[in-house]
Amino acid sequence: MRTVNIGLIGLGTVGGGTARTIEHNRDEYLRAYGIDLRIAKACALDPEQAAAAGIPAEAFTTDWHDVVADPAVDIVVELIGGEHPATEIFEAAFAAGKHVVTANKALLGRNMERLCALAREHGVQLRCEASAGGGIPIVAALEYSLAGNRMLTVAGILNGTTNYILSRMASEGSDFADVLADAQRLGYAEADPSADVDGFDAASKVAILSSIAFHTRVTTDDVYMQGIRDISPVDIDEARKMGRTIKLLGIARMTEDGIDARVHPAMIPSDHMLASVNGAMNAVFAVGDSVGETMFYGAGAGSYPTASAVVGDVLELARAIARGERPEAEPEPFERRVAIRPIE
Ligand code: HSE
Repeated sequence: MRTVNIGLIGLGTVGGGTARTIEHNRDEYLRAYGIDLRIAKACALDPEQAAAAGIPAEAFTTDWHDVVADPAVDIVVELIGGEHPATEIFEAAFAAGKHVVTANKALLGRNMERLCALAREHGVQLRCEASAGGGIPIVAALEYSLAGNRMLTVAGILNGTTNYILSRMASEGSDFADVLADAQRLGYAEADPSADVDGFDAASKVAILSSIAFHTRVTTDDVYMQGIRDISPVDIDEARKMGRTIKLLGIARMTEDGIDARVHPAMIPSDHMLASVNGAMNAVFAVGDSVGETMFYGAGAGSYPTASAVVGDVLELARAIARGERPEAEPEPFERRVAIRPIE
């Protein structure tokens, strides 16, 4: 049995779900992997979040530096999102020789190349399963199970909020603005919904997934982006008459000229599997030269589905630590390939 200690920064929806998942399944990790997974330190600004997540007072701090500096902590889990202080947390953790697990798509979408290089420099790992597709194990699939392929396409529904809005517009014939207001009231959409409805959130995920699938670096700024604000019930109805369904797709394709990466509403045949993905669910369609077409479906957001991906990454690192191995830093990506944009 080996105790592996994590430092958890952020105890909101995902951080709280992560703490509760670890607590709930601790015995199983012990039985299955011989790992006693402990939260040695946890940080949030609001002590009430710590109480709700079951963090004992002696393990709680409001200063993230305490988490990174704690000598007991083997793995830092960053779940606060945004660029700052997440960037500083990554830098401090790497400098202290600690692995980082994150769900931070906005940060990685823009800075994956620099942060992965920094992790490599310090001989530690940066793992990010939860940053794209929430609970769907697409990052691990691309990194391990599909590693024998030359990947051709990774595409899908990568944003639950917009899929929820489009699904309801289609089933009720309602306007975008009405469904958005309702989605905000129900807590599906943020008070500032622009990252979701204008495509930025999905574009960050496209950047992350194409970087991993194609062993290169694509940033969010390389991804063509068009959101769903202009979609009307008339568009949805006209599409339906043509046997099509409108979905906001994130698409990354390897072409002879480079990577074609984009997010935009698309009319897809209504009998395509992606057309039947409704509500806040996500789905990723991955095509490799050897495997052909594969499809992954699941919850792209939410407390426990996202925690599932976070804890999966933590356990992957913990198993290597328990075997006495230093988990290997990710390899250098291939030379950066210029991403091409579709004609706007
Ligand atoms: N805002 C995101 C979504 C959350 O709606 O899918 C998960 O990244």
